[in-house]
Amino acid sequence: MPEHPITIAIDGYSSTGKSTMAKWLAAQVGYAYIDSGAMYRAVTLYCLDNNIIQGPDIDEALLAERLNEIEIRFVAGGDGRSHTWLNGRDVESEIRSMRVSDRVSEIAALGFVRRAMVAQQQAMGRGKGVVMDGRDIGTVVFPDAEMKVFVTADAEVRARRRYDELRAKGDTSVRFEDVLRNVTERDRIDSTRAESPLRQAEDAVVLDNSHMTIEQQNRWLIDLFRQRLEQAEASA
Ligand code: DC
Repeated sequence: MPEHPITIAIDGYSSTGKSTMAKWLAAQVGYAYIDSGAMYRAVTLYCLDNNIIQGPDIDEALLAERLNEIEIRFVAGGDGRSHTWLNGRDVESEIRSMRVSDRVSEIAALGFVRRAMVAQQQAMGRGKGVVMDGRDIGTVVFPDAEMKVFVTADAEVRARRRYDELRAKGDTSVRFEDVLRNVTERDRIDSTRAESPLRQAEDAVVLDNSHMTIEQQNRWLIDLFRQRLEQAEASA
């Protein structure tokens, strides 16, 4: 790692491929990758499995009481990827299901949940040299991050990517219309919630990857990283 590692915040709409790019960049530059959305997903899974979410209702009082019993960790899996663990169990695949995707925005809109997650995310990034992706990383979690990217793409393109991903994983019952509805509904809830809504930080650079190949995107990212690292070294 260079002498002055920087902090990299990648925010943006759902299913824009933020985590793919964040993971790739982290591996390229030898930084740690942290998926903040996985933490909100793990809390949601806990709520679904512990009767905190019942039908359309969320028992916020019960969640507040149980929040410090929810332990989330990132553990390297046998496949070399980082897996999300919830209370001692690998839940990496379960947290990506539609069951969780359908309710996660409601859980992520709760102020007390956000405060607890943000505190953990800030602790994980204390030493810099991290790439974190999410919705509020450049605005709330690391407002001083040296590199901030805000990713966007057409909703249809995003839904198609997510749909293909779910089908590739063997989910044959998933329907494109449902995925598209989920993507646009999550955008709506994430951008209009009162607590840390999704918005572009003033000093973030916008990346619209609707019509970009992975190679073009990766080149764009590494170029920006080099610029930001040079700036950080120059001002250190
Ligand atoms: O990135 P993702 O789709 O896995 O995120 C899941 C949900 O969590 C998403 O609907 C918004 C929310 N989220 C958030 O509010 N803040 C973050 N830093 C990351 C995710």
